[in-house]
Amino acid sequence: TGKPVAILGVFVADTAYRAERQPRMGETILGRAFALGPGGKGSNQAVAAARAGGNVRMLTKLGRDTFAEMALQTWAEAGVKPEVTRHAEGYTGAAYIFVEEATGENAIIVCPGIARTISPQDVERWREAIATSGVFMTQLEQPLDAAQRALAIAREAGAVTILNPAPAAPLPAGMLALCDYVTPNESEAEALTGVSVASLSDAERAADALLAQGARAAVITLGERGALYRDGARTVHVPAFDAGPVVETTGAGDAFNGGFAVALSEGADPVEAVRFGCATAAISVTRPGTAPSMPRREEIEALLSGAGG
Ligand code: RIB
Ligand code: NA
Repeated sequence: TGKPVAILGVFVADTAYRAERQPRMGETILGRAFALGPGGKGSNQAVAAARAGGNVRMLTKLGRDTFAEMALQTWAEAGVKPEVTRHAEGYTGAAYIFVEEATGENAIIVCPGIARTISPQDVERWREAIATSGVFMTQLEQPLDAAQRALAIAREAGAVTILNPAPAAPLPAGMLALCDYVTPNESEAEALTGVSVASLSDAERAADALLAQGARAAVITLGERGALYRDGARTVHVPAFDAGPVVETTGAGDAFNGGFAVALSEGADPVEAVRFGCATAAISVTRPGTAPSMPRREEIEALLSGAGG
């Protein structure tokens, strides 16, 4: 097994509504189905990484409420080690997820709750967990200054650093220079670079702009077209895997990042790690929900070998 993977991020309860369309202001419509389940990008990535075989620590803040119990149970089942503080004065967050019946695509509102107060001082309390990890990964659901402090600690300690810049936000100067890998999707890549990503060559130009901002390598995830990897020496397009009919794409980016981080923690070549991440994501979209749809190691390996290695 690989070196420890530390993930700073957010847990929220996903409340997913399947309906034909979103209601207009002032309108009420009947939905087709509802599901409550574990979500939040950081937590989803942690669950994906643990199921994919990683030794995973989850760094976050929770309330003292029902959704916090859901978080702890989810991590216990997946084998994620929580490094959490509990707070009576706030609430564990929730996300509204609209899933469009015809396409399985989604629109989301996330309220991070108490995790919105994660500060650089909180991150200092996790210094040990970050500095002793082989791979450190974070996203942008908790405040930017906390993410930046954690990336700096990880970089200084010699850990591999991954920033999944989701949801998109303008980054402080110098943040990407702390990142070995930055892993936006198409729209996040556009938000960070101004390059609208419609084709593979657009993705390459966006990746170039991310390298110019200081990242050592960029991985742009491209949905059904897979992912584009670029570092100073090479550019590789990894096509998506087909694991069956698409049911729900929510959390596919988290599946990718979780799988990618685990492969890196085991010393895989980055392009191999991108393939592992793409396979992880391909399986997750064939199942409903976010964290619950993350595949196990054996399933990922079966898909990778079935595709001819
Ligand atoms: O990336 C998917 C996640 O984004 C969902 O689980 C939702 O909680 C939002 O944070
Ligand atoms: Na899914």
